Amino acid sequence: MPRIAIMAAMHEELSALLALMPDEQRRPLGGREFWLGHLHGRDVVVVLSRIGKVAAATTATLLATHFDVERLLFTGVAGGLGAGVKVGDVVLAEHLLQHDMDASPLFPRHEVPLYGRSRFEADAAMNDGLARASQRVLAEAPARLGADAVAAFGLQGRALHRGLVISGDRFVSGTAESEALRAALPQALAVEMEGAAVAQVCHDFGLPFAVLRTISDRADDTAHVDFPAFIREVASRYSAAIVADYLGG
Ligand code: ADE
Repeated sequence: MPRIAIMAAMHEELSALLALMPDEQRRPLGGREFWLGHLHGRDVVVVLSRIGKVAAATTATLLATHFDVERLLFTGVAGGLGAGVKVGDVVLAEHLLQHDMDASPLFPRHEVPLYGRSRFEADAAMNDGLARASQRVLAEAPARLGADAVAAFGLQGRALHRGLVISGDRFVSGTAESEALRAALPQALAVEMEGAAVAQVCHDFGLPFAVLRTISDRADDTAHVDFPAFIREVASRYSAAIVADYLGG
């Protein structure tokens, strides 16, 4: 039976997912560990994506070619760029773009050469299912995370956003850089380092995919969140709960 692939960006997220799998089995390939098993009764393969576009593209290619995958879900964290996108919010990518792709003057800025496009579209049906799962989990966030985590990370925001997510091989941690990204791509909700690469691979293989991100910072110099603690206490719990709800719902 075809499997659902789940690419996790962080070790903590991978562990949270593996803890929900009763029967996981490790299959090494290409320097990665692919975990085969069941989540909520569904056949899944779970893998750590590693960081950056090349690592993510390699991982997605191995999933598409070696694991009989019917759809692919990427979960991780991102920096918020859109005006109302706050730490603790969840962003579902409807389109993805590589913000550091620039083969001008041969091709327009951001266009992926020989694809005739700069944006790759995520699967609408997956996004609808993930949006429902995210809303359910976000509504229960204080109970799921505990009041301490909510206070520690100042999580006033718990909204779900859907729209453009941009990717590049750079952790954006300066106000000048995030402002330049906002000026070049005003529709961008969030910035991360893998999604658009996964999107391009899935386009090549005709594989439906979705990218789900918890906002960990605002991609500026005021971002003071304790990153590893945020991943452990908030992002990994959100993503494991949303993935479980999505698969069960
Ligand atoms: N992932 C989480 N926060 C990010 C940021 N500010 N830039 C790039 N990737 C990220």
